[in-house]
Amino acid sequence: MTKITAAITAVGSYVPDYVLSNQVLETMVDTNDEWITTRTGIKERRILKEEGQGTSFMAIRAAQNLIEKSGIDPKEIDLVLLATATPDMPVASTAVYTATQIGATNAFAYDLQAACSSFLYGLSTASAYIESGRYKKVLLIGSDKMSSIIDYTDRATCIIFGDGAGAVLFEPNTEGLGFQDEYLRSDGIGREFLKIEAGGSILPASEETVKNKQHFVHQDGTTVFKYAVSGMADVSEKIMERNKLTKEDVNWLVAHQANKRIIDATANRMGLDESKVLVNIQKYGNTTSATLPLLLSDFEDSLKKGDNIIFAAFGGGFTWGAIYLKWAYNKQKN
Ligand code: UT7
Repeated sequence: MTKITAAITAVGSYVPDYVLSNQVLETMVDTNDEWITTRTGIKERRILKEEGQGTSFMAIRAAQNLIEKSGIDPKEIDLVLLATATPDMPVASTAVYTATQIGATNAFAYDLQAACSSFLYGLSTASAYIESGRYKKVLLIGSDKMSSIIDYTDRATCIIFGDGAGAVLFEPNTEGLGFQDEYLRSDGIGREFLKIEAGGSILPASEETVKNKQHFVHQDGTTVFKYAVSGMADVSEKIMERNKLTKEDVNWLVAHQANKRIIDATANRMGLDESKVLVNIQKYGNTTSATLPLLLSDFEDSLKKGDNIIFAAFGGGFTWGAIYLKWAYNKQKN
């Protein structure tokens, strides 16, 4: 029997129109373009301004973009996974609403939360469903409205994050393309260094928690930075070793866009030339679950059938890991 692998066969994306530039941030907090650019690589980020709209608004548009480009019938989708750290609401799955809105009426759906590693872990989950032979079309969306949990008076976080969404479709492949291997890690030591304290079961929302700004993201940036640099580089090196991949064998590094310096450190450890490292952090900042699919969407023209891609991410929890995947198609020229 031919082995079934799980291949990405289509991508889509959506970012809001509103651009929040470093120059505008300079008028909001004590920061400057030079500091943000040299310390993070970010120039601007997108913010969802539509009244009363959340993560599903962007997830739906990213999925619709994929459906339009690929020409698939949404009724054929078996499962919709929504990777997000900012669901529309704590209860009532954002994935379910999204699936219904895009016409995936024969699918079941659920959310997947692992902070900035949500989409990376989602790649693993989606692939496993396909490899098992259980489902034929799995839609994995990464969408986050980070602006809903950011304190725009806190310069330690407001300069980093942005809003956006991306989507990929997984289908069975019999040519050995698609998902090859994963090395996923997590460590609860990270809980203290990157969190939203209130609004969960330990500290439910109250007047006090709102007053104390405990519904916003708080991070000890320097500590997270240190763990991120070593964590992402370690797993990327490990997955190369395990699959006997040399730096020449790797065509692309698709890494979580949290800080250009973290991406560079990972690429250096892998021995990769700059031209193989996909970067769009300057345009979007850290969009949490959307960074990886936004890269695939922005650079879809460059990816060629058979290319070896290493995905890597690091996020709150801590959660981190690397995935090795072979790209499965050449984009049709319009
Ligand atoms: O995606 C989830 C995982 N998250 C991450 O991977 C984020 C990891 N962390 C980082 O990317 C970095 O730690 C930050 C970008 C958040 C901060 O960069 P840093 O190089 O760690 O800066 P720092 O916090 O150590 O601060 C260095 C200096 C300080 O001044 P002094 O004490 O040296 O005089 C800060 O007060 O920079 C100052 N500073 C700023 N200056 C201008 C801190 N934030 C800012 C700012 N604008 N926004």
